[in-house]
Amino acid sequence: MTQTIKAHGGSLVNREVKGTKRDKALNDAKNLKSLTISNWAISDLELIGIGGFSPLEGFMGERDYKSVVNNIRLADGSVWSVPITLSVTNEQAKEYGLGEEISLKGEDGITYGTMVVEEKYTYDKKLEANNVYGTTDEAHPGVKKLYERGDIYLGGPITLLNRPDHGDFDEFYMDPEETRNMFKDLGWKTVVGFQTRNPVHRAHEHIQKTALEAVDGLLLNPLVGETKSDDIPADVRMESYQVILDNYYVKDRVRLVIYPAAMRYAGPREAILHAIVRKNYGCTHFIVGRDHAGVGDYYGTYDAQDLIAQFEEELNMTIFKFEHAFYCTVCENMASAKTCPHDKENHVHLSGTKVRELLRNGERPPKEFSRPEVADVLIKGMEQN
Ligand code: ADX
Repeated sequence: MTQTIKAHGGSLVNREVKGTKRDKALNDAKNLKSLTISNWAISDLELIGIGGFSPLEGFMGERDYKSVVNNIRLADGSVWSVPITLSVTNEQAKEYGLGEEISLKGEDGITYGTMVVEEKYTYDKKLEANNVYGTTDEAHPGVKKLYERGDIYLGGPITLLNRPDHGDFDEFYMDPEETRNMFKDLGWKTVVGFQTRNPVHRAHEHIQKTALEAVDGLLLNPLVGETKSDDIPADVRMESYQVILDNYYVKDRVRLVIYPAAMRYAGPREAILHAIVRKNYGCTHFIVGRDHAGVGDYYGTYDAQDLIAQFEEELNMTIFKFEHAFYCTVCENMASAKTCPHDKENHVHLSGTKVRELLRNGERPPKEFSRPEVADVLIKGMEQN
């Protein structure tokens, strides 16, 4: 019998209503006070609704929030690393009574869900920045977003009524129940999840394939929600993932599914969130490489690995921790400090800035860094953006 990994907290949350119940809920929602929420909040609403954020059933109340910020745990003690909260301004907060059900709309006027406002509370932005992002510097993209938020958090359970449209990525969209069933159908007992917000370069390919040698399947699970403006756009990345899979991967051993969340750039804390979500999607293993979910030089190269190691047993997942990987011209293959004895001068290393410069000039980075098929997609993408 195929063993499936339990969702975080024990069972997969489902806060979505469908069919006639949904029709009725949407109709009733017309009579509720509404709150217009950001695309970021819509993606959180969706992930709570479909169980990607199990065991969360709504936006966090104060007890969970404080416990997460201070202790990396929900109030009941289970591991959780990044607050999932809904912010409003002081004026907005006054419009809604405690216990009131409200509808949550997008800028597009679509009602994505409803929420019972169980709590309204103020919070300490500096403390959240410091504990979750490890810095209070507003140049950090996650901290900047946090500082721009309204001063009040609304907490309470949600109901998902409409999933956001994922446009061109629809064919790569699956919810956690679907990926779990897919793994079962494929006969994969062990699955490694891979988070990325970049095109797959040779180092990524190397660590994915090294991990794949030890498990049945690979879930390539790129984040396609909000990212910072100088990250490569998700549509270009999606095309690059498809060409690399077509040319360099075994079809029956990998599946490409989008992760529709916003990127927080919270480094070590976000690595834990990323692992938990992939567990909910049915992964038994998760990759944390160098500076996972990092930005600039806010985090040490292996800080994310060190933090997640403290929770690995409780998470009930195996975390594959990979050293910084590179191509060595003497070894003539991909390697890391663990496997290559040669001097640094022999290692092909390119900064993100250098790669972008090459691509912008229509030049392919060396094949030791990027597969040519991927480079071509990126060059075309640069021309169009
Ligand atoms: S992330 O923000 O999603 O973590 P990225 O897409 O660059 O960024 O990384 C995806 C995963 O690959 C992360 O686990 C990261 O630590 C790992 N990784 C990226 N580059 C390397 C590398 N050269 N060596 C080892 N691991 C890497």
